[in-house]
Amino acid sequence: MSRIEKLIAAMTLAEKLGQLTMTASGYAVTGPVIAGDSTESIKDGTLGNLLNMVGADHVHEMQRLAVEGSRLGIPLLIGLDIIHGHRTLFPVPLAEVASFDPEAWAVTAREAAMEAAADGLAMTFAPMLDVSRDPRWGRGVEGPGEDPWLGMRLAEAKVRGFQGASLNSPDTLAACAKHFCAYGPVTAGREYAAVDVSERTLHEVHLPPFAAAIASGVAAVMPSFTDLCGIPMTVHVRLLRGWLREKHGFDGVIVSDYNAIGELINHGVAADLVEAATLAMKAGVDIDMMADAYRRGLPTAVERGLVTMAEIDAAVRRVLTLKERLGLFDDPYRRGTTPETPAAITNRRRIARDVAARSIVMLKNDGEALPLPAGLRTIAVTGPLANAPAEMGGPWGAAGNTQEHVSVLAGLRNALPNCDILHAAGVATESTETAEIQPAVELCDRAEAVVLCVGEAANMSGEAASRAGLDLPGQQRIFVEAALARAKELGKKVVVVLFCGRPLVVPWLFDKADAVLAAWFLGSEAGNAIADVLTGRVSPGGRTPIAWPRAVGQIPVFFGERPSGRPANPTDHFTSKYLDIPNDPLFPFGHGLTYGRFTLSNLRVSPDRVTERETIEVHVDVKNEGTRAAQETVFLFTHDRVASVTRPLLELRGFGKITLKPGDTGTVHLRVHATELRFLGVEMTPVFEPGEVEIFVGPSADRTRLLKTSVQLVG
Ligand code: NOJ
Repeated sequence: MSRIEKLIAAMTLAEKLGQLTMTASGYAVTGPVIAGDSTESIKDGTLGNLLNMVGADHVHEMQRLAVEGSRLGIPLLIGLDIIHGHRTLFPVPLAEVASFDPEAWAVTAREAAMEAAADGLAMTFAPMLDVSRDPRWGRGVEGPGEDPWLGMRLAEAKVRGFQGASLNSPDTLAACAKHFCAYGPVTAGREYAAVDVSERTLHEVHLPPFAAAIASGVAAVMPSFTDLCGIPMTVHVRLLRGWLREKHGFDGVIVSDYNAIGELINHGVAADLVEAATLAMKAGVDIDMMADAYRRGLPTAVERGLVTMAEIDAAVRRVLTLKERLGLFDDPYRRGTTPETPAAITNRRRIARDVAARSIVMLKNDGEALPLPAGLRTIAVTGPLANAPAEMGGPWGAAGNTQEHVSVLAGLRNALPNCDILHAAGVATESTETAEIQPAVELCDRAEAVVLCVGEAANMSGEAASRAGLDLPGQQRIFVEAALARAKELGKKVVVVLFCGRPLVVPWLFDKADAVLAAWFLGSEAGNAIADVLTGRVSPGGRTPIAWPRAVGQIPVFFGERPSGRPANPTDHFTSKYLDIPNDPLFPFGHGLTYGRFTLSNLRVSPDRVTERETIEVHVDVKNEGTRAAQETVFLFTHDRVASVTRPLLELRGFGKITLKPGDTGTVHLRVHATELRFLGVEMTPVFEPGEVEIFVGPSADRTRLLKTSVQLVG
């Protein structure tokens, strides 16, 4: 008998339910604390998992209680939301996705895992893979943006990074793909609200990133808080047991979201914790996070014959197997024993700065306002986010020390020691106070260039941070308009650095500012990275992974829309359009400028007739016609012209990068395997249909800038 089977045979029901329970240690509570004090439960073997604990000493202290103080000595599984770093914060996920660099995504996850594991932790509740096309929803900041193909690449990179080569190694974390699934399209962008998406959209948009995570060996999956067409995901038998476990062979741990089993009562599918626990167990949820429903409800459910001991044992087996894979039985203190070297920590900060700089998206740069000209003697750096180190980390700060984050002011002072950098906040991120605006605006008079740092506070995106209006919060618009007007009067250029966990709908600002950088929330090295881009040390290379709307009323606006029978036509009234604004977003998916100026030409594909077994090779020439070296990103989209079901107008199939000096030309090579051109047919099963598939390549999803050719699919 294996170690795990022996343990299961020796366990009481209470001990088994302990292994299926996770409670918060109180370090970073993200919801109501329901399960109470953990210490006694760990000792009596009725609590097997903890979340939200930081510090190797604390982790080891708790581990000792379990291993040395409990009857069976089963080690604890301890996890935390390591979303974009642990102590060193990298850019928030949406920002990092903007770098379009899967290697960087994996590296930051690897670094975060090493840092968190050195702190004793063994699990992260990441990556978040919810495709989001609705910037009102605050949690878009945690995920891949609007596109499922991109979500798949993110899933692979993050799982590889967090879990390393083997979970058994002391510097890895078990990853947890969340939130399964279709959490992004909550009704009207309102957090935790109901979800209604079609079977087609579910399978084409929301499930693929999870399939990629499973194929990459993700250790755990977390169902979302929300329902899907009437069935809360926590009890969704068809998707949890059917799609996840049976169809995709996922045999890892399913951990509920925070109190999600208890919330089944609010959803109205369970009358009490006995029913809630029964439904979740039946659906295959192994660990009850924070509801204490399994410990309180399952004994009665077993007594009543609603749940069998075999079902409970299967869940316990999966949890113990994960602990075994993590090496916790062999050495429960393996994580958190060897402190990290100062060199490792310094190197991590270097990576954080590098990835942060590459995550910045230059949305606008009229008249080459950026980079700032060399030799400036005075710059005004104003706005509520100019000197706000604590805000730079953005939501999900894990164990980051907010005082160690670098502000824009500090970053620019580091970069330009001989420049006089004037500063005043002018206004708070959110307040009604306007008295300080005028003195801050007057700094423009004394400066040669003006940098306005405005946007959302860190806690305005993330969980429970939906917004109905997406303008600058508080009195910031008044401040920005006054500063822009003053600078214009004086003939000075204004650069806006926009901090946000989502696209902000500020067309008025894009209209008037000379240059705008989307800085999202870039983490510990934010200020240095922003200074790198402002001063031209680094050419901005980020591309927005979510369309930037013109108006909130356009949401959701995304490139993968299916065609209309009446496509927009300005001269035909009865076509699919708005009366007041264009259909397209202000900036499409993939938009982002660099300090180079690139032209694309000579798009070619081979072969031009493709069977299902072949790979299409796509090549495009890129020339840097600008005056500075820079990296260009090109995107590859396809469109199936005539199919048995309507196909999205564009489907992302790849992206590539090339760095070119001024005047240089190079070629970007991309590949698409023909199996990727399958789609779900009328019967919702994959089909490969002969016919023409259009191939588009360009610098963004802006159709007017895409080069086009096509291939013939042949049977
Ligand atoms: C609730 C969030 O929805 C989830 O993403 C997170 O992992 C848990 N809280 C634990 O903090």
